[in-house]
Amino acid sequence: MAAPIRLGVNVDHVATLRQARRSAYPDPVEAARLAERGGAQGITVHLREDRRHIQDHDVERLRASVRTKLNLEMAATAEMCAKALAVRPDDVCIVPERREELTTEGGLDVVAQRAALREIVEPLRRAGIRVSLFVDPDPRQMGAAAELRVDAVELHTGGYAEARDPYRLDAELARLRACARQADEAGLQVNAGHGLRLDNVRPVAAVREIVELNIGHSIVGRAVFVGLEAAVREMRAALDQARRQS
Ligand code: PXP
Repeated sequence: MAAPIRLGVNVDHVATLRQARRSAYPDPVEAARLAERGGAQGITVHLREDRRHIQDHDVERLRASVRTKLNLEMAATAEMCAKALAVRPDDVCIVPERREELTTEGGLDVVAQRAALREIVEPLRRAGIRVSLFVDPDPRQMGAAAELRVDAVELHTGGYAEARDPYRLDAELARLRACARQADEAGLQVNAGHGLRLDNVRPVAAVREIVELNIGHSIVGRAVFVGLEAAVREMRAALDQARRQS
């Protein structure tokens, strides 16, 4: 049997719900604590340039409270590099970012952006932060990532997650397997994530070279349904208690 796969839980969308009201709850720091209690081996957040969900103070509070490890997803910009050097997450995952996108849409083009990425990767690694690059399962990207001497790649599983017909699904899985092997042979740690759910995660989790999966949206979405009944019961009990005491 292969070594157990590690689970990083992305709590961005707890902050999405909070930001919808600009309220203090639900708090992603509290969500991270529960995720760790549930077995997460890492907490992931994406500090976007537009701050649409996670805020700077969330990252600082998470740094102080996360007991497993903190993985900061960020764009390859000087602002984000300075932020990471100040907060010192355990890991940084560099992702491409476009303001108008709903979520990270594709992997980094490491081949085309080699020089710019080096400017960000080197100071982070010198500071002892492990650096990962979020890339599509494309052999050219594995080669370029290895040349940049990063610690890890995170394979973008969005193409697999969105595949509708079985042929496409098999082809996407084959791409993930081949790139996982290539990256592992090049000495890179192999992580993966995006769009993974309870009903599609197993074939990816079975790829032996993959060390860690980062999963967010489906876990936060599922938590609404796993927890909604209990939340209504709590409110119902509070209303009834208030009436009994009035
Ligand atoms: N990994 C990376 C690099 C991401 O950008 C995201 C989305 O923020 C995830 C993993 C998690 O994706 P999802 O929320 O679809 O599980």
